[in-house]
Amino acid sequence: MTHKKKTMYITTPIYYVNGTPHIGHAYTAVVADFFKKFYEQRGQATYLLSGTDEHGQKVAQSAEAAGVEPLTWCDKHSRLFKEMCEYLLVDTDDFIRTTEERHKSFVQNVWKELEARGWLYKGTYNGWYSVRDEAFYGEDEIVDGKAPTGAPVEWREEESYFFKLSAFTEPLLAWFETKPDFVFPQGRYNEIKAFVRGGLRDLSVSRSSFSWGIPIPETDHVMYVWLDALFNYQSALDTSEKFQTFWNGDKIVHLVGKDILRFHAVYWPAFLSALECTPETLSTGVLEKACRAMQVVAHGWWLSEGEKMSKSLGNTVDPKDLVEKYGADYVRYYFLREPSFGGDGNFTQEGFALRINGELINNIGNLCQRTFALTHKNCDSMIPDAQVSHPLTETPLLDQVTPLVDEFKLNQAIEVILNYASKANEYVQESKPWALFKNGEEQKGRESLYVLLHAIYMIKEALYPILPEFHERLSSVFGNQTFRTGLQLNSLAKVFEQVEV
Ligand code: ME8
Ligand code: MG
Repeated sequence: MTHKKKTMYITTPIYYVNGTPHIGHAYTAVVADFFKKFYEQRGQATYLLSGTDEHGQKVAQSAEAAGVEPLTWCDKHSRLFKEMCEYLLVDTDDFIRTTEERHKSFVQNVWKELEARGWLYKGTYNGWYSVRDEAFYGEDEIVDGKAPTGAPVEWREEESYFFKLSAFTEPLLAWFETKPDFVFPQGRYNEIKAFVRGGLRDLSVSRSSFSWGIPIPETDHVMYVWLDALFNYQSALDTSEKFQTFWNGDKIVHLVGKDILRFHAVYWPAFLSALECTPETLSTGVLEKACRAMQVVAHGWWLSEGEKMSKSLGNTVDPKDLVEKYGADYVRYYFLREPSFGGDGNFTQEGFALRINGELINNIGNLCQRTFALTHKNCDSMIPDAQVSHPLTETPLLDQVTPLVDEFKLNQAIEVILNYASKANEYVQESKPWALFKNGEEQKGRESLYVLLHAIYMIKEALYPILPEFHERLSSVFGNQTFRTGLQLNSLAKVFEQVEV
């Protein structure tokens, strides 16, 4: 009997198609893909979902400003985000669009279910709304006439359906106590708890003043874009088999930017639980069951050369330009290496070049280049039959990295790999294999190269989720085979290209 694999369902936020992708979007995709590749390499069954969020006023306004039909606009921009995943080597299992029929019918059924269970009522929304955030704000949240995010707000009065979110204040707080790891990082979790402790208001979940959304059956309302959007995580798992495996599996990781944590950590568990009970039978136990496998992981914000990226400042960085110039590997490396995960990052051209040249090229590239050249010259490009025990070959590098990634210490995980490569470089200097061969100490020279080649092999494995192109290049050096003595190595023109500062 085969052992059932552990499962991990990883999602990126679905991107608004109001503009073209920038490095903030690219970052989310790369981190999600890192998790996918990492846990897949460790034998888990993984499923990575990305997609585009295409309804709502923000998207409708972008299309209108461009003078095109909303769907035409969405088709064009959704493609750009899909393409972004491709050029960053993000290995999505599915890419969902909220304008797809499979999603629309799924969400309409959700609506019917919420209604049947008594979670919805009709009223009038009087309050502040921000189109940029697609969010409602309470009077107490408005600062100098703006949303707490700095986005402009407008006053709204329209007929709307409401979801009885207020019923969730106590059950959510009690459930949070039972689930200390629900939100990463801890500081953001505390903010969420404080927000809920302040008391939840019922949520307006329909709009009647415009029409670019999923129609609510038998009304002239469309669904609030966040109710529509969040359910992409379920609608994409269309077949009962995929749903069974990944939704009801071991772990669901919703990767989000810190800006959209509230929607994922408060509204989403509430919507999911409401489908399992009525307002009268709601309890902490229902939340526990509905969100058993779920974790919401919030990453920080990217600044550009020290400033908030914005279209008006003209300092947004286009990930496509970056990848065309430097290749996917370097962009992925910088994203995963630079910020302390969960905190903010500052994108600078200089910092980028320093990381790549200093860490990848001078350390790992140098190690590979020297070792391969020496093996070519002295061992007929073969892994020498000189197996010897040495701290480098005995370091379980992959195992050392795993607990750090489990705790989202991504840059520390990379540091472990870099330190290991530094040690291997030190070993080159100490053992001086070129001198050993020159002085007729051939066996010792072969032992040194055996250790170094083995170290390189382990580094290539450890870097796979970060640098898939490097991994592929080096795998072909090893003939796509596992490490063993006597293996003939293929030649490699260049391990890395230098980045101009
Ligand atoms: O929020 N730095 O979509 P979105 C880091 N459609 N990450 C950034 C960033 C920055 N400067 N700017 C954006 C939405 N992001 C909704 C999501 S999910 C059911 C619906 C990242 O296109 C961040 O992860 O405005 C943000 O959450 C994501 O891009 C999508 O932003
Ligand atoms: Mg946004």
